Order: sequence, then C-alpha cells, then structure tokens
Amino acid sequence: MSAAVQQNSLPFAGLSNRGMRRLSELVREYSGICIGDDKHQLVANRLRRRVKELGIDSFDAYGDYVRSDASGRELEMLVDLMSTNHTAFFREREHFTVLFNQLAPKLRASLPAGVPLRVWSAAASSGEEPYTLALLAAEEQRRDSTLRWQLQASDISRRMLEVANRGIYALPSEAVVSTELLRRYFERGVGPQDGRCRLRREVRDSVRFQRINLLDARYPILDRQHVIFCRNVMIYFDVPTRRVVVERLLSHLAPGGFLIVGYSESLGGLAPGLVSVSHGVYTRL
Ligand SMILES: C[S@@+](CC[C@H](N)C(=O)[O-])C[C@H]1O[C@@H](n2cnc3c(N)ncnc32)[C@H](O)[C@@H]1O
Repeated sequence: MSAAVQQNSLPFAGLSNRGMRRLSELVREYSGICIGDDKHQLVANRLRRRVKELGIDSFDAYGDYVRSDASGRELEMLVDLMSTNHTAFFREREHFTVLFNQLAPKLRASLPAGVPLRVWSAAASSGEEPYTLALLAAEEQRRDSTLRWQLQASDISRRMLEVANRGIYALPSEAVVSTELLRRYFERGVGPQDGRCRLRREVRDSVRFQRINLLDARYPILDRQHVIFCRNVMIYFDVPTRRVVVERLLSHLAPGGFLIVGYSESLGGLAPGLVSVSHGVYTRL
C-alpha cells in the first residue's frame, strides 16, 4: 500500500484517520474525554444512527457539521454519544458504608447540631449514585430525625439528567437493593411497566440535579461541600485535565471534607496535601 493511500485510509467506512482525530479533539476540548486513536469502530458505531438521522453522508462531514453548529447543541450531542454512562445503585458499595459509618459521624462532630451534611455527586450519570445516598440518608433519618443531608448531583449530559429526574429504572435485584429499601422507597411498575420501578417522590425530591461540565472554569455550587463523589469519570481524562478538575473540585470542598473517586482511579500526585484515607477516599490536610 502506498504512503498516500495509508494516510487517507478509511479504517472504518466514511471515518478517515483525520476525521477521527478531529472528532476526538472536539470531544476532548469540550469534555476532557480522551478517545484512543484505535477506537474508529467504537466511534463509528456510536455515531452511525445520529449521522443517518441528520441525513449526512459521512462521518467526516458530520465533524464539519458539529463545528459549524453555532448553538453548540450538536457538540453536546456528540459528547453525549461518546460518553460511557454506566452506573448502578450501590456501585462500589464500600464508599457508601464508609461515608455513613465513618465519615459522616466524623464530619458531624465538628458541625453545629441540625446543620445538614452537604454531598455533591459530580458526574452522576442517570442518578443511581445520588439516589443511593438519598436512600441511605432516608434510612438514617428514620432512626434519628435530627440527622440531615443536603444532596445535589450533576452531569454534563442533559439526556442522563432527564433520566435522573424521572427516577424510573429497571427494578434492581434484591442482591443490590435490599427488600426493605425496595419496599419503602420504590414503586413497582405494573402491566407494561412490569420489571420497572420508580423512586418515590420524597426520594426524588431529596436530590437536586443540575448540568455541570467539569471542564468549566466555574461550577455553580454555592456552599462548600462536606463530601464530593466524582467517581469513574476522571479515568477518561488525561493527567493535566485531572489535575485541573481535582483542584476545582477541592475549591468546593469544606475544610476536613472528603473527595471520593472510583475504585480504579487514583489521585496520587494530582494535588498538594491530598491524602488517601481509604480506598478511593481523599482529604486535604
Ligand atoms: C461512567 S459514568 C459514572 C457515573 C457514576 N459516577 C458512577 O460511578 O457510577 C461517567 C459520567 O461522567 C459524565 N461526564 C463525562 N465528562 C464529563 C464532564 N466533563 N463533566 C461532567 N460530567 C462528565 C458522563 O456524562 C457520564 O454520565
């Protein structure tokens, strides 16, 4: 194969190497998500439907379309299609146990009585992570009504935020969400909704969702948070981006507060004074 052909080769129909690079640049610049050069197939698979829907005849032309859309909506759509939104109730369960059994009592010891513990779930995807917090907070309140939580959650994806606000999910198994929690806080779907469930209104209302891009220079988070969950998103960012995002998140953390990342993520060396207190749980000294 000649060099010229190799350069313009189409590893996936309609998505040239150059087109692939331009699309990944758009995604990285806007969201921080890095897409490997070898992910032609994945990119094409995720974009095919959208490209067809728009009546555009190639992936490369779609890149031009994204760039020319002054509203920025198509760029949001592209990022949405490229993101991994996988999440689950009680995902990486140990973090919830550590929070409720160890971190919360410690944080409360230095707070005036009745002041709520503020937790922000950044990159919350479809909402299962903050709703897990809401379920546990509601349980705690049944035992002691003076213990309060203020929960907020965010994600870059408007589509995911819509799902989160609806609070309708496939019914989780009892191995994941206990029978008691299912009974108290979920409404089971019937008829055509069999196998689905909806979180009860009081649970849905206890979490405030808003759209936040972690790459934005400012986050619309007013009060300093006692705990920030930012799990399984920075894994898609390069190291310089992680560093910037971690510093920004820390600027919203109350003194003595905790930043929690995914099991497979590490913040080692990303911010001065940051120490690990347990698996994926950090505080700033
Ligand atoms: C794999 S999910 C993680 C969900 C949840 N935190 C968990 O661990 O189960 C990653 C989420 O990060 C979001 N995301 C990606 N880039 C983002 C950014 N720059 N700002 C905010 N959210 C982002 C995606 O939309 C996606 O919903």
